[in-house]
Amino acid sequence: MDISHSRSVVTGGASGLGLAVVERLVAAGGQVAIFDLPSSAGAEVVDRLGDSAVFVPVDVSDTEGVAEAVAHVAEAFGGIDVNVNCAGIAPAARMLGRDGEPFSLDLFTAVLTVNLVGTFDVMRRCAAIMADNEPGPDGERGAIVNVASVAAFEGQVGQAAYSASKGGIVGMTLPIARDLASRGIRVNTVAPGIMETPLLAGAPDELKESLAAVSVFPKRLGLPDEFAALVLHVVGNMFINGETIRLDAGGRLPPH
Ligand SMILES: NC(=O)c1ccc[n+]([C@@H]2O[C@H](COP(=O)([O-])OP(=O)(O)OC[C@H]3O[C@@H](n4cnc5c(N)ncnc54)[C@H](O)[C@@H]3O)[C@@H](O)[C@H]2O)c1
Repeated sequence: MDISHSRSVVTGGASGLGLAVVERLVAAGGQVAIFDLPSSAGAEVVDRLGDSAVFVPVDVSDTEGVAEAVAHVAEAFGGIDVNVNCAGIAPAARMLGRDGEPFSLDLFTAVLTVNLVGTFDVMRRCAAIMADNEPGPDGERGAIVNVASVAAFEGQVGQAAYSASKGGIVGMTLPIARDLASRGIRVNTVAPGIMETPLLAGAPDELKESLAAVSVFPKRLGLPDEFAALVLHVVGNMFINGETIRLDAGGRLPPH
């Protein structure tokens, strides 16, 4: 995939990991549509980045909104080559609360709906547009990168819903890559460890140090730009397909 002429949809692109991907795609010469909540910083981000980025306010859990947003971008850009799915939420709750109350089914469903169903919905709509692209020299028509988490493999206390959603993303990566192979569309997933996004930027130093201690080497949190660099490599490297790649400095999350 030639990123310099690419037309991308990045969900969750107004903040953190998604924003770092948007910045790299724009710097490489691509056009990017940021799919993020109306309440997000999407409008300020595109003001800063200029004409190569557009903000499309949409909730990835609203399927009609997703269909409209993808159709709008396909029309405005004349097609879609790349889709990176970073939109996600991570509320924590234990299976049984302090008073023995079972995990809220509404909360469980909400996390699955945004993280897993939302990712799937944006992917399927983007893939339908990519399938109409003229194939590149190797027959490639598109590249999709999803974002899971190391919590897909070793979820911590309180992460049942989050881990289920991210495990679902890991699980569907290979079958979707197989489904889309005949169309020349690759599908991969990145599973980050603990990254220094706005979520953690304001956290006390002791908390950051304890989280960084999980890393084997280097002993620090991951940087959004390190994530973005990996995503752009995956988009550009034709031989990576159907894979989930950990980005975690060798760390394995402990139970707490
Ligand atoms: N930060 C980490 O340590 C870490 C580690 C592993 C995985 N992840 C995953 O990476 C992704 C990005 O996380 P981040 O740390 O950059 O978080 P972030 O909160 O900085 O960014 C997430 C973005 O997603 C958007 N978003 C949330 N719900 C949405 C919805 N329903 N529709 C559209 N947009 C929505 C938010 O508005 C925000 O702009 C998430 O999927 C997260 O689970 C993060």
